[in-house]
Amino acid sequence: MLAIIGGSGLTRLASLEVSRRQLVKTPYGEPSAALTFGRIGNRPVVFLARHGDEHSLPPHQVNYRANIWALAECSPIGIVSVAAVGSIRSDLAPGDLVIPHQIIDYTWGRHSTYHEGPDSPVRHVDFTEPYDQSLRRKLCDAATAIGLVVSDSAVYAATQGPRLETAAEVNRIERDGADVVGMTGMPEAILARELGVSYAAINVVANYAAGRGDSQAGISLDAIHQVLDGAMAQVRGLIEAMLTSDD
Ligand code: HPA
Repeated sequence: MLAIIGGSGLTRLASLEVSRRQLVKTPYGEPSAALTFGRIGNRPVVFLARHGDEHSLPPHQVNYRANIWALAECSPIGIVSVAAVGSIRSDLAPGDLVIPHQIIDYTWGRHSTYHEGPDSPVRHVDFTEPYDQSLRRKLCDAATAIGLVVSDSAVYAATQGPRLETAAEVNRIERDGADVVGMTGMPEAILARELGVSYAAINVVANYAAGRGDSQAGISLDAIHQVLDGAMAQVRGLIEAMLTSDD
């Protein structure tokens, strides 16, 4: 079974033949929404809407530990996380898809480990390569197979949100080495790693980051929504292609 976390613009998967929805509880509380089980092209899938079914949870209030725990309990072959990003690079335009390979974490105050508290001794986890290489490769190969252009590497900066960045912050994030900026990639990726679940991301460029491209004077939220509506069909196509690539 493949687990999919849908972000802004992807609260459900049109091609998913839903068989059941299940509300689950975890030792860390409740996930953002019920888990939706079903099939895409005869392959089992479990889907979770990161911000809740009504998109009511801001990035800093998502219960990432409960989300990843609940999906890990399904013993998935991996988690594919879909998330909108702003682009810092001029060659990554709104509507483009990116399979990031690295992360810089600027978030704070989020529960970012399962190994804390009296019953769980500290554990340090290798995170040199934050995404699962084989899952990334499958996504890139599936994109090639259906003629979809994706950028096969990028450094993802995770910011706290829910506000967008200032132009100066984007300049700093670029100097740090990031290509795209989003608000939810951490602690998702490290929590999946702690539980030993393969994790990769599909980032959808929703806009140029603050102060870049056509966002020099500000970022249009209406434009973001329009871009996401259009790009999600491609995301669905990519996931379907990946799932059915070895049929
Ligand atoms: N910054 C952070 N997160 C985002 C952006 C952005 O510009 N666009 C979509 N998610």
